[in-house]
Amino acid sequence: MARDMSQRVGSFGATVFVEINELARRHHAVNLGQGAPDFDGPPAVLDAAVRAIRGALNQYAPGIGLATAREAVAHHARRFYGQKVDPDTEVLVTAGATEAVFAAVLGLTDPGDEVILFEPVYDSYVPNMIMAGVTPRYVPLRGEQWSLDPDELARAFTPRTRALIVNTPHNPTGKVYSREELGVIAELCREHDALAITDEVYEHILYDGFVHTRLATLEGMAERTVTISSLGKTFSVTGWKIGWAIGPAALIRAVNQAHQFITFAVASPLQAAAATALKLPPSFFDELQANYQRKRDFLIGALESAGFKVMRPRGSYFIIADWRGVAPSAISDDVEFARWLTREIGVACIPPSIFYQDSDKPMGRYLARFAVCKKEETLAEAAARLSRLGKR
Ligand SMILES: Cc1ncc(COP(=O)(O)O)c(C=O)c1O
Repeated sequence: MARDMSQRVGSFGATVFVEINELARRHHAVNLGQGAPDFDGPPAVLDAAVRAIRGALNQYAPGIGLATAREAVAHHARRFYGQKVDPDTEVLVTAGATEAVFAAVLGLTDPGDEVILFEPVYDSYVPNMIMAGVTPRYVPLRGEQWSLDPDELARAFTPRTRALIVNTPHNPTGKVYSREELGVIAELCREHDALAITDEVYEHILYDGFVHTRLATLEGMAERTVTISSLGKTFSVTGWKIGWAIGPAALIRAVNQAHQFITFAVASPLQAAAATALKLPPSFFDELQANYQRKRDFLIGALESAGFKVMRPRGSYFIIADWRGVAPSAISDDVEFARWLTREIGVACIPPSIFYQDSDKPMGRYLARFAVCKKEETLAEAAARLSRLGKR
């Protein structure tokens, strides 16, 4: 009988997201699992996409992206980070940040190379590496602040290290890497002549006055960093899948070598709308942060009143909380807890052990991840349901 799956993908397994979403649907749970807003993006951005479609911008875009989109990405990088980017040679438009990371891994590494990851790790990176034949090396983030140990990071570098991937602000923890931590990372990358790939999709979702630092803006890093971000999270259009990679021309050419045969080109009208989105006035970005601060504070309050121990996120769509104060004693791990909370309390969350390699899964065992990117009424309904926990 013919094989029905390649060895390359056979080890991936089904994602817990699918199971939790299905369970949430069946039990009419408030779904705080997946990081997708349940509200729409800014009308000006939606209108720009509609205008582009009506304006006959419906054929293939150039593989590297529409000139207007690349120019807007460069403009945004200069505006928020003082980064000088040539839109013609240093920007590539991709199908979301997800494709950009995969194309960067494929375009910049060879089989047998090693790539350093911080754990917990966003779920697409490791499968990307398996598909590219690259070996992941894990450095855990530990403690209340998800700190990184510089010595542990230094020991992860070997002569085979080709690159490192940094996601800041971080999914699932909400960690925002400090300038000092990025300085340690930058120094080790320079010392070992390694590349950095950064995933900054939550760059505008920041709390309590914390600021986002772009690794590429640290000394000696512009020439060795591929900076990746996308429209989805900032503009509440996760279904659009418009992302980009920024970097020196030689690295972007390498990423494009892979991109040209993965997607070739991405949705033209949505790229046109990216130009509108990225040039929205400062008031949009200020309101975004104020809204998210309110949502995060509200959900932290609800979780704490219910008996969770919350690890306060500094950025991203997510809150991680320890559930040991609220769960029945029979529940022994985060996957069981997520199923139980969805079924019995009617609030869906994600078990963070999925963001750890097998041997480190115990690090996520007593935790749950909740998404805050929801309407106020959705969060209020979740809070009402969570309040039953305290009364059990
Ligand atoms: C860290 C991180 N990177 C990338 C993505 C996906 O980004 P995109 O939709 O632009 O592919 C997500 C979405 O959850 C994410 O959390």
